Amino acid sequence: MTSATLDDLVRQAHSSFQAAASPAELENAKAVFLGKSGRLTELMKGLAALNADEKKARGAVINRAKQAIEQALADRRQALAQAELDAQLTAEALDVTLPGRQRTGGGLHPVSLTLERIEAIFGSMGFDVAQGPEIETDWFNFSALNTPEDHPARSMHDTFYVEGGTPQAPLLLRTHTSPMQIRYAVQHVKAHRALIDAGQPMPEIRVIAPGRTYRVDSDATHSPMFHQCEGLWIGQSVSFKDLKFVFSDFCRTFFEMDDLVLRFRPSFFPFTEPSAEIDIQFQSGPLAGRWLEVAGSGQVHPNVVRNMGLDPERYMGFAFGMGPDRLTMLRYGINDLRLFFDGDIRFLSQFQ
Ligand code: DAH
Repeated sequence: MTSATLDDLVRQAHSSFQAAASPAELENAKAVFLGKSGRLTELMKGLAALNADEKKARGAVINRAKQAIEQALADRRQALAQAELDAQLTAEALDVTLPGRQRTGGGLHPVSLTLERIEAIFGSMGFDVAQGPEIETDWFNFSALNTPEDHPARSMHDTFYVEGGTPQAPLLLRTHTSPMQIRYAVQHVKAHRALIDAGQPMPEIRVIAPGRTYRVDSDATHSPMFHQCEGLWIGQSVSFKDLKFVFSDFCRTFFEMDDLVLRFRPSFFPFTEPSAEIDIQFQSGPLAGRWLEVAGSGQVHPNVVRNMGLDPERYMGFAFGMGPDRLTMLRYGINDLRLFFDGDIRFLSQFQ
């Protein structure tokens, strides 16, 4: 092969490298010229047949061609790498002229706002705030609260029983926050046992226990998971009169309405005697004039006081259980409870 045709070979290699659009294509093109059986390699092999002088002269010419091809290859490699980098930079480019994205503020769920409000108001009246388990034993949820074995609330279609209990001590999702009355009181009594045994008055129990509760129930005003807030005040002479005062004060503060009217309607709960349903009535606004039920309440039953570890002859008090979901609906004029649990941002963002 003459040097003119070697020049051709260099040109062909050059244009074939240029035509390679990717590193993989370039490697294929390289193989054609510089590979083990590439065209240049074949020429090198041809040198073996020549004598020493010819070999030297011819070898030098082929070597120059080889260097030129290697240079063309290196240039193309470099160009492809640069093109790839440019493409990447373009793809990741920031358009600083785009309008900025709004960062919207997060906020608390309306029911959380209500719970915070309840805790603040009762906190100002000296109530502690307690939390307890949502998976309860049948003892704390029913028996300790003087609820008989055959009470309908204990049936399978009212209560979610969970695995892991025994027939004697079933486990369930608490149907109300009332078990916290017992749990909190037992701890309190334990902490003041020496004082109580010495016949000294125990510091009063004053606690609210907000949290999630569960029942087999689902419609516009009932959800299988809902919130309750328990209240308990036990001392040596805490009476129904104190319940009326405390709960009225709470409702008027919660709704920011001094003219709010309350009604304590006789009712029945196994764990209180006497028991009352608490209704409120707004004097203004869209719900004015209607009685709206907000809580169950009563004087704690002597059997329950006993299960707290106290002598009902010496200790008495009141309890109540209210529905923070319902309070939230009344405060904001919401008519479907399920909105609270759908997680729809269009609804939730209205409370920020
Ligand atoms: N636990 C009752 C319920 O879920 C509500 C209740 C009624 C709580 C009377 C009380 C009470 O503490 O004294 O229906």
